Amino acid sequence: MDLYTPIFTRASTRKFDPSPLPADTLSQLEDFISQVKPLLPDVKLEHRIVSGNDVKGMALPKAPHFLLISGREHPLRNTAAGFLYQHAELWLYAHGYATRWLGGVKPKQPDPNHIIGMAFGKPTEPAVRKPEDFKRKPLSEIARGTDSRLEAARLAPSGMNGQPWYYIADGNKIHVCYKPSLGGLLGKMYNLTDLDVGISLCHLAVAGEHEGKSFRFTVNKTGFPAPPAGFVYVGTVE
Ligand SMILES: Cc1cc2nc3c(=O)[nH]c(=O)nc-3n(C[C@H](O)[C@H](O)[C@H](O)COP(=O)(O)O)c2cc1C
Repeated sequence: MDLYTPIFTRASTRKFDPSPLPADTLSQLEDFISQVKPLLPDVKLEHRIVSGNDVKGMALPKAPHFLLISGREHPLRNTAAGFLYQHAELWLYAHGYATRWLGGVKPKQPDPNHIIGMAFGKPTEPAVRKPEDFKRKPLSEIARGTDSRLEAARLAPSGMNGQPWYYIADGNKIHVCYKPSLGGLLGKMYNLTDLDVGISLCHLAVAGEHEGKSFRFTVNKTGFPAPPAGFVYVGTVE
């Protein structure tokens, strides 16, 4: 499955064909998700695929399916969720479907472990674009040092398009940092920057796989370089 190409072409949509996807597509998606290597094996995540009747939230797109993601408390729960389910997002684009991550979607039945959701289905118009049409910060603002995988990480989607990640390439290692708050009004409205960095890490891992590079994520390393002001260290890719 080529998850790499959609990184450079995908675009979120709000325009979905309301018809449900074939049952075997949903079951292939479930199989795919169950086989993704998690970012951290000790983070327990779960998901459910439901219809629009089972979700609530402001200004939700009329999509045939919503992926509701939940998990038990863990300091890196949201980062691990962004990492795992961005693989699902890319899988859907690779199959010609489209998505939109939704910070504001919730299950109608309250779930204390709910994290986030994603609308998905067949788009009514192509949800693709050229790499130059992505609205993203330049590489120089989100990284120092050089590594061929950073371009894929740069293009990742994020809530409010905040792109709250910073990478420090250091030989064979990439140290990963993120901004706990977007600051100002955006910071008051949005609190999933830790999930965003997991999404970007998924793109980094997929780009690495494309290049034949291994991906091992470790946390609590000592001796990592100082992050820029406003950022904190998350872990290191080796
Ligand atoms: C974690 C996360 C939460 C998001 N929440 C919402 C949301 O609540 N409503 C919405 O319309 N879009 C939401 N988005 C979509 C982003 O606005 C979009 O991904 C970003 O602007 C980049 O555009 P792109 O996905 O087309 O590359 C969210 C995206 C992410 C990654």
